[in-house]
Amino acid sequence: MSEQWTIPHQLIEALRNAQHVTVLTGAGISAESGLPTFRDPMTGLWAQYRPEELDTPQAFQRNPRLVWKWFDWRRQIVAEAEPNPAHYALVDMEQRVPQFTLLTQNIDSLHQKAGSSQVIELHGNLSRTKCNEDGMIVDTWEDTDDPPPRCPRCDGLLRPDVVWFGERLTDAAFDAATHAARNCDLFLSIGTSGTVEPAAHLPYRALDGGAVVVVTNLDVPNRDTHPLYMINAPAGQLLPALVRSAWPDSIS
Ligand code: APR
Repeated sequence: MSEQWTIPHQLIEALRNAQHVTVLTGAGISAESGLPTFRDPMTGLWAQYRPEELDTPQAFQRNPRLVWKWFDWRRQIVAEAEPNPAHYALVDMEQRVPQFTLLTQNIDSLHQKAGSSQVIELHGNLSRTKCNEDGMIVDTWEDTDDPPPRCPRCDGLLRPDVVWFGERLTDAAFDAATHAARNCDLFLSIGTSGTVEPAAHLPYRALDGGAVVVVTNLDVPNRDTHPLYMINAPAGQLLPALVRSAWPDSIS
């Protein structure tokens, strides 16, 4: 439940004057596009399903068909989803700050669909698969009655090109995220519960680097303790309001 929220004046100034803004997003930014989050108590996917049975390499080894079908279902709901005002506000923000880095834990492509130009996907992307044997990335595949489909090169099973529990982020994504957190002057954590590493650590890296940090989701209390701000607000309302406040001529 969202509480009454406001945008602190210093934060608007921090955004307007920032040279490098780094944004980390999680499932909450896509909630207003109709996609379920993971840990919201009633509606989150992990309130209804067990991640151990669906989102781990061991689960795929035990029951590849079940895991493939789970991701197929997620692909279908993502295909029907459209970006919401929060995604569009980040496109607007990208165009207004000198350097902008967008990191996402989401695998739904909604930032790209909204028009964000460079998105660092920490947890991969639902629209790709890779071979479970030789790791080859496979962008298109034939659906089969007996899923998962197979690798065209080695006949291994295809799996989604996402990062499961117990797996490492790619070095490139991890290094880019750490660098962008440490070297920005404003860091926004949006719609993530901050429970999954290494993304959970990024706001601390940003604070260590001297950035102003904003954590916004529907879990935090409203708190204004410069340089850390917490705002309990729906992203689809807060982000357009933030962009409008910083740049009153903007159209968000
Ligand atoms: N606006 C802003 N925040 C919202 C909204 C909204 N409309 N709706 C929900 N939220 C917030 C919740 O309050 C919560 O803090 O989004 C957050 C969602 O948290 P999680 O469900 O834990 O999602 P996330 O942090 O992205 O999960 C991290 O865990 O299993 C995985 O791999 C999956 O990438 C995912 C990772």
